[in-house]
Amino acid sequence: MPVPLLDLRAQLATIRDEVTSAMMDVVDSQLFILGQRVEELERSVAKVSHTKYAVGCASGTDALLLALRALDCGPGDEVITTPFTFFATAGTIHNVGAKPVFVDIDPRTFNILPEAAAAARTPRTKTCVPVDLFGQMAPIEQVMTALPGLPIIEDAAQTIGARRSIDGEWRMAGEVPTIGTFSFFPSKNLGAFGDGGMMVTQDDALAARLKRLRMHGGAKQYFHDEVGFNSRLDALQAAVLSAKLPHLEAWSAKRRANAAYYSAAFADVSDVVTPYVEPANESIFNQYTIRVPRRDDLQAFLKDKGIGTAVYYPLPLHLQPCFSYLGYKAGSCPESERAAGEVLSIPIYPELTTSQLDEVVEQVRAFYGR
Ligand SMILES: Cc1ncc(COP(=O)(O)O)c(C=O)c1O
Repeated sequence: MPVPLLDLRAQLATIRDEVTSAMMDVVDSQLFILGQRVEELERSVAKVSHTKYAVGCASGTDALLLALRALDCGPGDEVITTPFTFFATAGTIHNVGAKPVFVDIDPRTFNILPEAAAAARTPRTKTCVPVDLFGQMAPIEQVMTALPGLPIIEDAAQTIGARRSIDGEWRMAGEVPTIGTFSFFPSKNLGAFGDGGMMVTQDDALAARLKRLRMHGGAKQYFHDEVGFNSRLDALQAAVLSAKLPHLEAWSAKRRANAAYYSAAFADVSDVVTPYVEPANESIFNQYTIRVPRRDDLQAFLKDKGIGTAVYYPLPLHLQPCFSYLGYKAGSCPESERAAGEVLSIPIYPELTTSQLDEVVEQVRAFYGR
């Protein structure tokens, strides 16, 4: 039985009428750029994230770029982050003219080690970008304690709606740092019908600046306080996302249930290391990522059986050719390098049927002779 890594058509089948009617409202209005639909979504995302403001933009990459610019990050500055993440986290640091400083990850969660971030701080450090990988939040409060006085950008591209218990209170992804950034890339738990992103913050002045930066740096049309970007979320994407948002919690809960199903089914397979979620975290399982020996062989075996998988991420960013100028060598971030050779993400999307889950379990077990 084929089991794709992700089946967005299965999701569409459950919400087709709501989404198409929301899209047709926009088409009928012929108002496509920013406007009421985008503002509605911004209010809803701010509510989900427990933040005062949410500002839509063109992608999760641009959300990082605008956040870095809003913190005046540029040439001569250093930005601490991890190399085991999607390229955009570090590409945007480079693109504002700053220097990415890579620190290693906690091998259990794939998220930043606060003590490593503290050790990498220099007088040039402008900000730190902890990444919430695969659906669980980084230890954001520990990063903030480890880097006192430093503004923090939480790359929450993969964690909208995830939460973490901090001092006995649930805190949402994006709630606690200076700026949180989301991606609405179609494969995210809340995915658009194209590109989209959003920034969240509690800070009045930063919210106003982020709004300016996404519109060529001007608060008033044709008057520019600074040079910004054209990075707007369009009304069609906002309509799709607003129609999907009421389902987000249930979809993420189903992903958690699928994750629990897999983890129980692999419990006696010593070759398969199942995802570790910190007790303080509630993951939204954007990915279910196992660590295994003979990973490439397992991936080829599953492909042969019609099971979709992916390697997120095969080459850590400190070893990417484009960053050779930074001078990192193999061995600089050993846990990230080891993870890159062992990880495999398997299907976890909410619409998976029990027989599909069983098929994945059976084939993985079969590969390891169970
Ligand atoms: C961790 C991380 N950061 C940033 C991004 C960039 O988001 P986008 O693809 O919307 O530009 C992504 C999404 O792919 C991501 O996973």
